[in-house]
Amino acid sequence: RGKLIKLNRLRSAGAGQRGVSMENKKKRIFSGIQPSGELTLGSYMGAIKNWVALQEEYDCVYCIVDMHAITVRQVPGDLRRRALEQLAQYLACGLDPRKSILFIQSHVPQHAELSWVLSCYTQFGELSRMTQFKQKSQQHADNITSGLFTYPVLMAADILLYQTDLVPVGEDQRQHVELCRDIAQRFNGVYSDTFVLPEAFIQRVDQGARVMSLGNPLNKMSKSDPEGCVNLMDSPEVIQRKFKRAVTDSETCVRYDKENKPGVSNLLTIYSAATGKSLEEAQEIFAGQGYGVFKPAVGDAVIELLRPIREEAARLIKDKAHLESVYREGARRAGRVAQRTLDKVHRKVGFIAR
Ligand code: TRP
Repeated sequence: RGKLIKLNRLRSAGAGQRGVSMENKKKRIFSGIQPSGELTLGSYMGAIKNWVALQEEYDCVYCIVDMHAITVRQVPGDLRRRALEQLAQYLACGLDPRKSILFIQSHVPQHAELSWVLSCYTQFGELSRMTQFKQKSQQHADNITSGLFTYPVLMAADILLYQTDLVPVGEDQRQHVELCRDIAQRFNGVYSDTFVLPEAFIQRVDQGARVMSLGNPLNKMSKSDPEGCVNLMDSPEVIQRKFKRAVTDSETCVRYDKENKPGVSNLLTIYSAATGKSLEEAQEIFAGQGYGVFKPAVGDAVIELLRPIREEAARLIKDKAHLESVYREGARRAGRVAQRTLDKVHRKVGFIAR
């Protein structure tokens, strides 16, 4: 216990924040996706594929954040089904419960408990400035709940419970991770070092993989835009249809030019990420070819990329007993780590130990 506290002090003092950790302890990664829709090619290329690689070097915790999903209205049966499918798809993509902790947020009550405490260290004004809250409260103008407002506090609890060093997220979540860091810093300042200060870990743009909508390549591929988005579980026919309809331009020349040819550039990025070929190679392959050849070829590459994932996820979803054992074991392991942090927090704020 004493050793652990010292270790955390060192880590939060910044000693092991970057580069090689002095304690030779792996850095902690935490991330999550809401089961509010199907996982997409965008979620895979932009997040999960990266999470799989991170498992080798980091101590990773990956979550299905169902409590975040209910900040907007969900159909209960759909939410339950999607959370379980998401777990099957996590596994099919290569997230490995022997390497990482995989769990469902609502199974670890410490998230809700820490969230309450943290909400007492978060300013109303800070939450009011969150751009995602402003956007979502416009989209759901008839249902602006306090859960939607305090969503970033729950996200801070997710991250801080596990003494997370790095949070792989998309650019749209950077503001939330920064708020989390501010809350942690404030709490550490009022009491003493309690939380590791996390950092957003945003994939570099030149590592490709920011997948845009096939229908509107200026927007990120999103589950709320069904035609522009390829789901991990889409059949080959559906995938091919979506690629054939992908928006391009009138130049009929396959060339990477993000400014002037966002549709074609997006397709090249997808092709390159799906095949492992560089953008240069991809452009050479399609030099002199029209879009009538190019678009189905990208479709085929994606079909082959997703085929093993779809098949494995379809197999796993039938094996309820296995999924159950994965999420139970995940929740047990997550709960142990989370409780250590929560005990510390309760002690510091002045709650009587049970
Ligand atoms: N808010 C994130 C999103 O919508 C999901 C999320 C919840 C998350 N808790 C998290 C991401 C903790 C990273 C870490 O994308």
